[in-house]
Amino acid sequence: MARAALQDGRSASGAEEEDAAAILARLASRASCRAFDGSPIEPAELEAIVTDGLQAPSSCNQQNWHFVLVSDQGRKDRAREIAGGNPHFSDCAALVYLCFQKGWTHGNFSIVQSVAGACYHMMLSAHLRGWRCIWNAGIGDHGALREMLGLPPTFEVQGALAIGKPLPDAPPMKAPRRPPAEVMSWETFDRPAHAIYPAKPADAYPFFAIRNDDNPYAEWNPARWTWAQVADFRGYSVWAKSPLAGVYVSRRQGDALAREHALLPELAPGAEAIEVMPWGGTTTAELVRRLPGVRLTVAELSEHNVTFIRERLRQEGLGEAVRFAVMAEGRLPMEDGVADLVVLPQVLEHAPDPLRLLDEAARVLRSGGRLVASVRNADSAYGAHWRAVESRAQVPNQGPFTPLHAAAVRGWVAERFAIEAQQGLGRGAVGDAAPMTGDDLLAGRLWAVRARRG
Ligand SMILES: Cc1cc2nc3c(=O)[nH]c(=O)nc-3n(C[C@H](O)[C@H](O)[C@H](O)COP(=O)(O)O)c2cc1C
Repeated sequence: MARAALQDGRSASGAEEEDAAAILARLASRASCRAFDGSPIEPAELEAIVTDGLQAPSSCNQQNWHFVLVSDQGRKDRAREIAGGNPHFSDCAALVYLCFQKGWTHGNFSIVQSVAGACYHMMLSAHLRGWRCIWNAGIGDHGALREMLGLPPTFEVQGALAIGKPLPDAPPMKAPRRPPAEVMSWETFDRPAHAIYPAKPADAYPFFAIRNDDNPYAEWNPARWTWAQVADFRGYSVWAKSPLAGVYVSRRQGDALAREHALLPELAPGAEAIEVMPWGGTTTAELVRRLPGVRLTVAELSEHNVTFIRERLRQEGLGEAVRFAVMAEGRLPMEDGVADLVVLPQVLEHAPDPLRLLDEAARVLRSGGRLVASVRNADSAYGAHWRAVESRAQVPNQGPFTPLHAAAVRGWVAERFAIEAQQGLGRGAVGDAAPMTGDDLLAGRLWAVRARRG
């Protein structure tokens, strides 16, 4: 501890400094948990944790917060149903709903700031008492929640803190942190370029004109991002969830992925495959299952994706054989002609420079090696939906992307490889993975290809 001071201004003794350092180290070891073992919490213990949180400061000291403690299994299950996809709501010991009284926000969301301070204080208390937590803004429909909690109209609910005991094999790690110098500057604003994300050019960015589902400034075109910005954004955002088995899997993806992977070539055991930019490893897990005995290397833009995917594969019991590599500026850190297979699972549309990725795939493949790639197609019902609806929202955690024209991508592939098989997938705007052939080949939501390096 460089500087510690008692309340009356005297310097802390050496022993107190050591004490403070130990406490701070313990607080820093807190990590979110989204895999609880279902064990209960004593009501007095839960009340003690929430009571600790009440020591937080609040705007005008009004303490206009309110915390609804939910430990009844039926209510927790209902909470999970309302949230729509938070299994940890059912399995935690208790949920603490974070509420506040409306009408005294004092500007700058200070009531929200106050509730947030109390919530973090509760998390630290729970951590010191041997519990683990997850703070959730994703709580679902407020109307249904109001009914479940009996919330009066003058109160708002803004989140829920889930507290419980972890499953024995819950991921032990904490989400990565930015280097401090990246997020603090003295006297005036200063921040490295890779950690400032592009927005559409405008004179001003009025706060209330920007919503998650309607952001006129969201820059979805990866060509307006640098590789370093894309790497930075994707590497931290993937930690929005824990690296648990099955994370980031949707049925829609599953159906389409099975059809994309049907294009994979037969590979002998010991063959070398490279999967490029699989973000959270959803496609990697399937690829490992489909290619037993193949030596797979996952290449990602950020070390933080690597850590995530490695643990996720471990959780799925698949991790042993996979190796990892970090790309700089979209280049694969491999020698020429080393791979039998390169897989690009819906990544060209995420790339600031998609041709570089195709050039890199051609460079690292040996003669006769195969490329298997898929892209979201601009010339499809989905492409129209993306332009009208999806791209109006905030850039997703997978990073900025813009669907590409299947015909153009087919041309890029044909310039570098011999196309062996191709298919369109998905007739509708969202939700299906229907095969598209003949005249409709280039009109599906996805276009997928297998091509051979000459
Ligand atoms: C205001 C707030 C809202 C959050 N909402 C969610 C959520 O809805 N779902 C979720 O899984 N995690 C949520 N988180 C957890 C973050 O993803 C997590 O804190 C972050 O990845 C850092 O990881 P760590 O807590 O392990 O340090 C939220 C965190 C905060 C502070």
